[in-house]
Amino acid sequence: MIKYLGSKRLLLDAIGAAVDSFGESRRVLDLFSGTSRVGHALKRRGHYVIANDHLHFAANLARTYVEADGRVYRERAARLIDELNEIEGIPGYVTQTFCTEARYFRPENGMRIDAIRERIETLDVDCTLKAILLTSLIEAADRVDSTTGVQMAYLKEWAKRAYNPLSMRLPEILDGPGEAHRFDALDAAGAFEVDLAYLDPPYNQHRYIGNYHVWETITRWDHPEAYGIARKRIQAKDHKSPFNSKREIEGAMRQVLERLRAKEIIVSFNNEGYLSRETLEEMLADYGHVETVAIDFKRYVGAQIGIYNLSGKKVGRVGRLRNIEFLFIVSQDPDAARHAAAAVIRAEKKRRDALPKGSRARVTAAKIAEGQRE
Ligand SMILES: C[S@@+](CC[C@H](N)C(=O)[O-])C[C@H]1O[C@@H](n2cnc3c(N)ncnc32)[C@H](O)[C@@H]1O
Repeated sequence: MIKYLGSKRLLLDAIGAAVDSFGESRRVLDLFSGTSRVGHALKRRGHYVIANDHLHFAANLARTYVEADGRVYRERAARLIDELNEIEGIPGYVTQTFCTEARYFRPENGMRIDAIRERIETLDVDCTLKAILLTSLIEAADRVDSTTGVQMAYLKEWAKRAYNPLSMRLPEILDGPGEAHRFDALDAAGAFEVDLAYLDPPYNQHRYIGNYHVWETITRWDHPEAYGIARKRIQAKDHKSPFNSKREIEGAMRQVLERLRAKEIIVSFNNEGYLSRETLEEMLADYGHVETVAIDFKRYVGAQIGIYNLSGKKVGRVGRLRNIEFLFIVSQDPDAARHAAAAVIRAEKKRRDALPKGSRARVTAAKIAEGQRE
């Protein structure tokens, strides 16, 4: 799956264990689905997942990883991906905008992205199969990009992986049903009656449309006007979410909570976000007993090495190297919330114990695991 800020890659077992602890085959709403990693992990564990995100590329990832039934699509997608991998490059919008005007991909890969994306547009396939092909293309592009994981800037020197030839792979599509939607969270919150709602909103001002505009443009294939060094799609300027606004996030979060039709709620948030732990606990207390688990992590690589623009100028600051991910677990039944929190801690300890022996990460992690539940 793609590199994504705020992705819960390392928390999948912890979140999965919490959801499982409330019961089997739950109906779960993932309201801010991003890469759909969480939805995918929950579908694999036997839950029925309804994934939602307001961006086109994220909704396509959700169609692939949550909605598509592998029994229907796996073989057809594999055949088409083999064919698409044979296509020769032809320069087009991606080559011009993202390889010449900017440097996200080597031109030889940009030309292949252009040619493959054009071919996908001409195929007579339903929207789910198209979503799977686009997911495969975007993941292939992500493996050969030259960024630190966000598309606000690109590396001064080409990343080593950028020299690899672009190669599409079959995404891991799971058997069984699920749903993918592209609504604003405020509209989606009340639209589905579920057992559990998982909320993983943005934490701060960094908008996902700006950080991942290349994926949005490849998905929409609308050849937009681009601006600035990052060559962002012009629409990114007006695409706002209240969850990226310090002033609006609290009201938006309260409205989402008010609209949800869910028995249990799990919220992911970060200690560097706009809402404090105390504010979130106070908001959530209206909906049941709240258990909070705090998990300490290393920050994403861009924060550690800094970010450069084309002329080699550092445009990002080296920030703090660690942060805390909170999981707030809410249930009318305090024992059920406590069990879920205990399941999170067990899963997280197990993940950390499995880290390579003697590594520094393991030592640090073990120390943290002790005081993890506050
Ligand atoms: C922290 S990320 C979610 C990461 C995801 N859990 C994962 O593991 O990949 C937050 C997501 O919320 C989406 N988002 C932001 N504002 C939204 C809104 N108003 N309605 C729906 N989705 C929104 C963003 O597009 C982004 O994908």
